[in-house]
Amino acid sequence: MDMEHKSFWQIEKAPVFPSLQGNLQVNTVIIGAGLCGLLCAYLLHLKGVRDIAIVDANEVCSGVTANTTAKITSQHGLIYAKLMQGLGEDGATQYASANQNAIKLYRQIISSEQINCDFTPCNAWVYTTWEEKLQAIQDEVQAAQKLGISATYEKQTELPLPVKGAIKFPDQAHFHPLKFAFRICDILSKAGCQIYTNTTATAAEEGIVRTQKGNIRAANIISCSHYPFIDKHSLLFTKVFQERSYVLALKGIEPIRDMYLDCVDGGFSFRPQRDENSEDMILFGAYDHKSGHENKQLHFESLIKDAAQCYPSGKPVYLWSAQDCMTHDSIPYIGRYHSAGKGIYLATGFNKWGMTSSMAAADILSDLITKGTSRNHAVFSLDRQDIGLQTKSFVKETVDIVGNFLTHLTMADESLRNIENNHGGIVEIDGRRVGIYKDENSKLYAVKPVCTHMGCAIKWNRDENTWDCTCHGSRFDYKGNVIGGPAMTPLERLEIAQDSRR
Ligand SMILES: Cc1cc2nc3c(=O)[nH]c(=O)nc-3n(C[C@H](O)[C@H](O)[C@H](O)COP(=O)(O)OP(=O)(O)OC[C@H]3O[C@@H](n4cnc5c(N)ncnc54)[C@H](O)[C@@H]3O)c2cc1C
Ligand code: FES
Repeated sequence: MDMEHKSFWQIEKAPVFPSLQGNLQVNTVIIGAGLCGLLCAYLLHLKGVRDIAIVDANEVCSGVTANTTAKITSQHGLIYAKLMQGLGEDGATQYASANQNAIKLYRQIISSEQINCDFTPCNAWVYTTWEEKLQAIQDEVQAAQKLGISATYEKQTELPLPVKGAIKFPDQAHFHPLKFAFRICDILSKAGCQIYTNTTATAAEEGIVRTQKGNIRAANIISCSHYPFIDKHSLLFTKVFQERSYVLALKGIEPIRDMYLDCVDGGFSFRPQRDENSEDMILFGAYDHKSGHENKQLHFESLIKDAAQCYPSGKPVYLWSAQDCMTHDSIPYIGRYHSAGKGIYLATGFNKWGMTSSMAAADILSDLITKGTSRNHAVFSLDRQDIGLQTKSFVKETVDIVGNFLTHLTMADESLRNIENNHGGIVEIDGRRVGIYKDENSKLYAVKPVCTHMGCAIKWNRDENTWDCTCHGSRFDYKGNVIGGPAMTPLERLEIAQDSRR
């Protein structure tokens, strides 16, 4: 088979739901039918809430959940030593316990509902190939053990790399996220939960969600829209940014048993998966970077070359990329969204660990709604104080955002005649910056290179032929149509003369 430019999971057929037709009144409305939204509905229903609706702007689980690598693990890189230092043992215990409990909940739900989703228990490892990182790995082992996780320090792995040392967590797992999520949709529908797709929420305030298809009145509103689209007073846009990652599925390899991640940001990630004919594959990932940045590098090409070095006999079969919401202190925001209004809840910023974080969010939010309190809530709260974990990243991000606004004042980075067919770039035409895409027949498409979310500069993404925002990661196609939020409005299209020789 030739290589497909989509995730392996997407060969699973999504269930079809209607879009909203007119107004509705329910107890709880959930915005976003990704893994997080579906799990919130499932656990709310389990805890006795009956009148639930979910709305999604697209199809169910067509966002990041369709493009994940779906490791179910409480091992989120090297995090516990850092959390112990910043939060103390109590806070770090809450984080560990919420994520360990999430793995347990997956096991229980998959077993009690008899969900066939390739759920496979295994170990999770964070490794290093650098002598100077060994101390950080050993510190992590100590921190994790102190928090009750049976972590061990290891020297030998299955990887085709000169690993110097690694931390291993037992009793973790991986699964097929869409087989799981689509079955949850089925269970929810049979239980009377209303699911509406192709229905975009445009605003939410106390007691009401507005969509372009009608308004939904509800006592409780949960925003699981990935990047929060409600951001009235909380300045979430200064706290949440997006990071892109690249994944390749390889066949023709010696299978591995466990899941692995380099301790260095942007390093390699490995996990096993069988395809639909039970043939072994490895999902190989790398090159994490802030969305809208490093756009001149060809990440897909680099990933294929790296994979060939690790697995010379490997045959690439699926190639994809996606982005997740990141926070400066590496802790998701899960809880009451007071600044948006009473009865509004939010889950975002999963830092590429949204399998356990979605389950943790669903557990915490369903507890808050049904009992008014939740045991692991404080560490994830939107009102949490700066605990000293985020200062450096926050300052860097703020400088970066200011720089991205000021980019409008700088010169173009390409000349029109240097842009090849099927590519784009920012050029200067009659003294103004213009975003240009040249199609295969040299036809020009021009947009104002200013993001419609909050006015940051956009950059051309050579890997995927898109315009990506440099601030919070909105994405647009070459004509300027939105393909990923938080922006909701297309880029402004500009009229220019069709003379590509200038
Ligand atoms: C390459 C990659 C690999 C990853 N690997 C792992 C991993 O191995 N393990 C792990 O734990 N995590 C991993 N993650 C992270 C994880 O996949 C995500 O955190 C998780 O899928 C997010 O789920 P979600 O439901 O919050 O978002 P989504 O799945 O994106 O769902 C959000 C939904 O909200 C809808 N929506 C948005 N705006 C609106 C609106 N205004 N109105 C209505 N609907 C709206 C969207 O259409 C979408 O369907 C990875 C992420 C990436 C990018
Ligand atoms: S995504 Fe916020 S300014 Fe572009």
